[in-house]
Amino acid sequence: MVEPFAAVDIIRAKRDRGALRPEQIDWVIDAYVRGVVAEEQMAALAMAILLNGMDEAEIVRWTDAMIRSGERMDFTTLERPTVDKHSTGGVGDKITLPLVPVVAACGAAVPQLSGRGLGHTGGTLDKLESIPGWRANLSNDEMFEVLRSCGGVICAAGPGLAPADKKLYALRDVTGTVEAIPLIASSIMSKKIAEGAGGLVLDVKTGSGAFMSDPVQAKRLAETMVRIGLDSGVNTRALITAMDVPLGLTVGNALEVRESVEVLAGGGPSDVIELTITLAREMLDLAGITGVDPATTLQDGSAMDVWNRMIRAQGGDPDAPLPVATHRHQVVAETRGTMTQLDALKVGIAAWRLGAGRARKEDSVSEGAGIEIHAKPGDSVTAGMPLLTLHTDDERRFSTAMQALEGAIVIGPAGAPVNRLPLILERIN
Ligand code: URA
Repeated sequence: MVEPFAAVDIIRAKRDRGALRPEQIDWVIDAYVRGVVAEEQMAALAMAILLNGMDEAEIVRWTDAMIRSGERMDFTTLERPTVDKHSTGGVGDKITLPLVPVVAACGAAVPQLSGRGLGHTGGTLDKLESIPGWRANLSNDEMFEVLRSCGGVICAAGPGLAPADKKLYALRDVTGTVEAIPLIASSIMSKKIAEGAGGLVLDVKTGSGAFMSDPVQAKRLAETMVRIGLDSGVNTRALITAMDVPLGLTVGNALEVRESVEVLAGGGPSDVIELTITLAREMLDLAGITGVDPATTLQDGSAMDVWNRMIRAQGGDPDAPLPVATHRHQVVAETRGTMTQLDALKVGIAAWRLGAGRARKEDSVSEGAGIEIHAKPGDSVTAGMPLLTLHTDDERRFSTAMQALEGAIVIGPAGAPVNRLPLILERIN
């Protein structure tokens, strides 16, 4: 086959701050997947994009080319409107677990293709895999059947979904090019658009524990992703939400499932409930479902009912006891006063070191490991009061987790002002 372009010309064009033409973008993505564009050439192009950016038309075309590298799911035969959410990830972010059953209980269908965690943020599949018997890998037919019968499905994205992104993301990871907003936005959106939902709500986190810790960058990412979604015919909006403090009172796989079940049973921490309901309202609005209040599904048992069916449909036993780590260690307050800070990043790294997360894709995670939080910023504490309980299967991990927690907790005088981001910072349409 005679190739219509040379990769080096495309690299030079972006190096010299030019805009890539649509046919150049289509070719470079396709030729990269075919192995015609070499890894070092794509690495050079990714770096040129990181340094010189892309305009909106380029980003939309790049995303579209990545979608076309694989399959696009089609749920148009379902009777319910489809809608999904994507979170850029954070510490204690278990919102998908209660959210999918809540939205399904209100009448939408939620096809949620999720990933595993890497680094200090946890992955939804790792959390669900702590439920005895639960299976993340479904064929497309199985996924469709769970979605049809339960109204929601959470499973692993198969290899056929945006394969160009899988290859490119692995390359970006080792070439210092993850941080380019056009590449992040097209990476996330190619997978979400290929997933085939009619509506999409993006939860873009900001604060120390977020991928985009700077709110200005988080807003740029959110705006870029909303534009890609709308240009691609997916009804998309975004919320910028706080990740300076961990979400809820648990960080770690089985611990977060336990907390999610508490929320589904009508209890649970207020921030998890508020974010679940806020995102559910946005999703239902995009799905065109009116006249139902998602909050009632947590009180009347209907969301719990969907959860139990979803877990059973994937081989899990929702009534089985969740794994518990073998060792515990309490962190107590040294003085009395008001907690003014609980740093999400430090707590996330500590949970990761306790075994809740993985350093490399191939690593396994400990189901029971993690951190229980007993006080949050704004709470009054007394000397000796437990603030955190660390859980691990390997006692030797406590010391490195404690190092990660140095400076994570700040206790000021009683009544000291708390400098904390509001849970919902901004909404982007
Ligand atoms: N998540 C993704 O899926 N892609 C990125 O580039 C960054 C985060």
